[in-house]
Amino acid sequence: MASLTINGHNVTVDAAKDTPLLWVIRDHLNMTGTKFGCGAGLCGACTVHLDGVAVRSCQTQFGDVGAKKVTTIEGLSAHGDHALQKAWVAEQVPQCGYCQSGQIMQAASLLSHNPAPTRDEIVEAMTGNLCRCMTYPRIVKAIERASNDMRAANDTAGRKA
Ligand code: FES
Ligand code: FES
Repeated sequence: MASLTINGHNVTVDAAKDTPLLWVIRDHLNMTGTKFGCGAGLCGACTVHLDGVAVRSCQTQFGDVGAKKVTTIEGLSAHGDHALQKAWVAEQVPQCGYCQSGQIMQAASLLSHNPAPTRDEIVEAMTGNLCRCMTYPRIVKAIERASNDMRAANDTAGRKA
């Protein structure tokens, strides 16, 4: 039994310390937006944030999370309106959709640390997130769109301040 801060809520979870965070999220907390792909750190379908940094939840033990804040796709934005989520819709990125929550969480981590990535930086940051439907070109376009939109919104906010 240990506590966890996830998507802004403190919860208590009755799970062994060596349980992968992925299964705590999906099975104990019933948040199914985070997907199981390979279970071996190779596909990125299970990507969540720990203190804002993308990690593979299948490779993260529950006991190692401690006080770090977990964010899943359900907590990325209050109403599903993060700039990346809007850009994903605008660029019609998903095909089957299975990999996409992991893709978005990886991209969100990138943009929070590098708001204006080059195309090469985007490709490099996303290279560990696999998509068997080959949506890669649309993923890159959506990240570029979100980056532009976020910077434009920041410029506007700065002018109003
Ligand atoms: S399920 Fe975690 S990296 Fe594939
Ligand atoms: S959209 Fe099908 S695996 Fe990526």
